[in-house]
Amino acid sequence: MAERPDPVGCREQDLGLFEITHRDGSARIGRLHTKHGVITTPMLLPVINPNLRTIEPREMWESYGIEALITNSYVIWKHEDLRKEALSNGIHSLLDFPGTVVTDSGTFQSYVYGDVEVGPQEIVSFQRDMGVDIGTMLDEFGRPDMTREELEGAVEVTAERSEPALEEAGGDLLLNGPIQGGTHPDLRAHASSLMGDALSGEQGFCVHPIGGIVPLMEQQRYKELFEILLASKASLPPGRPVHLFGCGHPILFPMAIALGVDLFDSAAYAIFARDDRLLTPNGTVKLDNLNEWPFHSNALFGTTPGQLRSMDLDVRSEILARHNLEITQAELARCREAIRTGKIWELAEQRSHSSPYLREAFLWVQEQLDNPDHGPVGDSILRLIASTDPLRGGGEALGEDIEYRPHILHIQALLATRWRVPGSWWDSTTGPPKRVVIIQRASPPWRTTSLRTAIWHLVEEPMSVVLINTPIGLIPFPLEDVSPWCHLTGPGGMWELPSDDGEISELLHDLGLSGTTVVRVNPDEEVEIDHSLERKVREWLDRCSIVDKLSLFCAIHPLDGCKLTDGMRTRKSRTDRIVNVYSGDSHVLSPRLTDGGLSLATEGAHSTNNMNSTPAPRFGSPEPEEEFPGIPRVCIHDDAVPFVGKGRNVMHGYILGADSHLIPGQPCLVVDSGGRLIAHGTPITTHFEMASLRKGVAVRVREGVAN
Ligand code: GUN
Repeated sequence: MAERPDPVGCREQDLGLFEITHRDGSARIGRLHTKHGVITTPMLLPVINPNLRTIEPREMWESYGIEALITNSYVIWKHEDLRKEALSNGIHSLLDFPGTVVTDSGTFQSYVYGDVEVGPQEIVSFQRDMGVDIGTMLDEFGRPDMTREELEGAVEVTAERSEPALEEAGGDLLLNGPIQGGTHPDLRAHASSLMGDALSGEQGFCVHPIGGIVPLMEQQRYKELFEILLASKASLPPGRPVHLFGCGHPILFPMAIALGVDLFDSAAYAIFARDDRLLTPNGTVKLDNLNEWPFHSNALFGTTPGQLRSMDLDVRSEILARHNLEITQAELARCREAIRTGKIWELAEQRSHSSPYLREAFLWVQEQLDNPDHGPVGDSILRLIASTDPLRGGGEALGEDIEYRPHILHIQALLATRWRVPGSWWDSTTGPPKRVVIIQRASPPWRTTSLRTAIWHLVEEPMSVVLINTPIGLIPFPLEDVSPWCHLTGPGGMWELPSDDGEISELLHDLGLSGTTVVRVNPDEEVEIDHSLERKVREWLDRCSIVDKLSLFCAIHPLDGCKLTDGMRTRKSRTDRIVNVYSGDSHVLSPRLTDGGLSLATEGAHSTNNMNSTPAPRFGSPEPEEEFPGIPRVCIHDDAVPFVGKGRNVMHGYILGADSHLIPGQPCLVVDSGGRLIAHGTPITTHFEMASLRKGVAVRVREGVAN
């Protein structure tokens, strides 16, 4: 196998910066810049015991592709030989590892043994002098069984030590700023603000580990674990990676990542191996009980469980440690891929069935999603939903938990808050609808199975709102090609089950249609319709579709949507779907055929910008509270205008403000400080992250509109 080259250190100005390259709600793929390479997150830092290296760090780099590991600076400090060698040759040479080295500070030892002999300043200077990439200040471990007063004390002591620690670290050593606070969500949120704000000069913490959670994981108290995580995330700077201290069991990765964890660390791969246990993504299995391997790995290839049992403990546990590390790495790769494909929540959903404790925690998170509270946990939950792209191409598997998937909750919330009854009907009459027609027992694509049915009922009564009944709610017919509704996959019978009256009236209430007469119909595409009427109604439905999508995905008032589409012309595909929308001769926008969303064209960007009379957004300035605040805008620094105007992406660090209703994945405008249009594109990060991140792409620009 080709040797893996040593890493390339980051640029000096990027040291400690974190960028986000992909996201799926709170889950993100990031790049953390260090002197010994740029590490891709979410990732696991394998714990290396400097006295007992089950797998050599060099091999982890060469064969396992591990970019960063963690070891304990206190253990090195305590052993004179190790300490001397680390100080003279550096930690990378001591471990023989060329990648990023993270160290812990001895806090965990003080939790296990009661005390440590090193002072908070000394352990930071020691980490700095060994050439560590990311060190850890000496925090005070807050055990879940401590009293509230004791836990408050642990938070205060940790916060008091933070600025001296940052000062001691100087410009070269990046630092972890751990969050303590036991199982009290408010205390965790408070600790997060204190640690997030800590500064020495310009320097703050680089990463925030959530500490004090090992006892919870040992007791499988996962509900409290995720509650703590959500509470902490509410007040942490959104641009800094979050680490779950001491968590390394793959069973927890998908859920933790879906809630926003970027880094894990654990010695589980080696400790479990010493005890003849194999890690799997669904839990732990004992070697003793195995006839065959439940999961394959390079390490186990060609060996049977029986053969492994007959080997010496040392040989056996090394093989099992390798297997455990491979399984851990594979599950993290699976999670990263799920983020890229918008499926992290579904993976978490699947894994939640692996353990009753995890399922309990997952169901608790679902309750929070369904009904967010008013504290820090609710704040995090609302951010999670708002940062989830409501649209995605590809199938949407029906399952018992489908209604709680964040992208589905998001699109349903957009439908409930932004959809409006058409301002005028196809025959140019105006006024409230005379009836609601619900098409039931029809499967997608509805333009094939139910279009003529919809038109027939509209011809019969022009003032009709036509809705489609889907297993995840009612949708207006003009949104028939919007995912996830049109991409639901499952047994054919799922379309045969119309909702009951109670359910329907609740859904109609959400759409503002309570009290309107309801007619339920099955699709009948054989109906006879006058051709010219059919064409007229179809054109009206096409226009409604654009107005509805502009409202839902771009927060554009339906009246503005009507102005924009007044006299619109369309170009259609061979399958009769709108490809381009024109106003006069100008191309205004294009529906996205993969997910039913919209892509603006330059003319549409100009028009939608002109519809917005509020000043360009600025971080920290209050925003007007409106139901349709207009297409979201990102306001950039003058220095960036010439580049972005030519079509370059908007980079973090050049952003003066962003509208808070910006949705990653949905269209946005880029404007200068005077509100002039510079470009349009798709945001990757949220407005919170735009205010905090200093590196990476914020908006992928479709077109610059210089001059
Ligand atoms: N390792 C596991 N938990 C902790 C913690 O709370 N603090 C530190 N520094 N290390 C840990």
